[in-house]
Amino acid sequence: MRIDIITTFPEMMEGFFNTSILGRSQRHGYTEIHLHNLRDYTTDKHHRTDDYPFGGCAGLVMKIEPIDNCISSLKSQRHYDEVIYTSPDGEVFDQPMANSLSMTQNLIFLCGHYKGIDYRIREHLITKEISIGDYVLTGGELAVSVICDAIIRLIPGVISDETSALSDSFQDNLLAPPVYTRPAEYNGWKVPDILLSGHEAKIRQWEFEQSLERTKRLRPDLLK
Ligand code: ADE
Repeated sequence: MRIDIITTFPEMMEGFFNTSILGRSQRHGYTEIHLHNLRDYTTDKHHRTDDYPFGGCAGLVMKIEPIDNCISSLKSQRHYDEVIYTSPDGEVFDQPMANSLSMTQNLIFLCGHYKGIDYRIREHLITKEISIGDYVLTGGELAVSVICDAIIRLIPGVISDETSALSDSFQDNLLAPPVYTRPAEYNGWKVPDILLSGHEAKIRQWEFEQSLERTKRLRPDLLK
């Protein structure tokens, strides 16, 4: 999968995408992440990516030209499944959306800032708008990072134990069961006996019951 990210702050995202599982997914050829500095697509002397809004309200709005230049240049090189803009007024991101985006080939993400982007970009260039929740961030970089993380870890091979991505919280609308590792007892705090019993079927049943109990208690809305 190839992901192109258009941002005014590529340095915010470099470390994130080059570390841990996301870094390994690139080194092992499962993903290609390309960060594009929007300033490189400006044509004016001052490399401006934003300007004052028409109508005289406060704040700055991201300009059309550099964004169109960048998206057009990418689209002239290959087909993209979606051109995604992250914004609090988009469709709320969830696991089914992560699953379906993880099956695409090429994605463009545009990170917004300030008061937003010139609305014509959303009308003519963007194919999908995604929110990561009902709160407002200072910019789209964190939202794009969150979405890409959730997508990339679902690509077969990226997580060495493939079944672990499938048994995550939310994959079946249930929260994950508790997990433990050695030592079996610490400060008198014990790992549940069932997990040490070696009885595979009973352990799976216990995990399912724990998932159900935790979902009922912590996220009853998921069971509706
Ligand atoms: N940009 C600012 N706030 C956001 C949010 N909640 N989701 C996605 N993008 C955003």
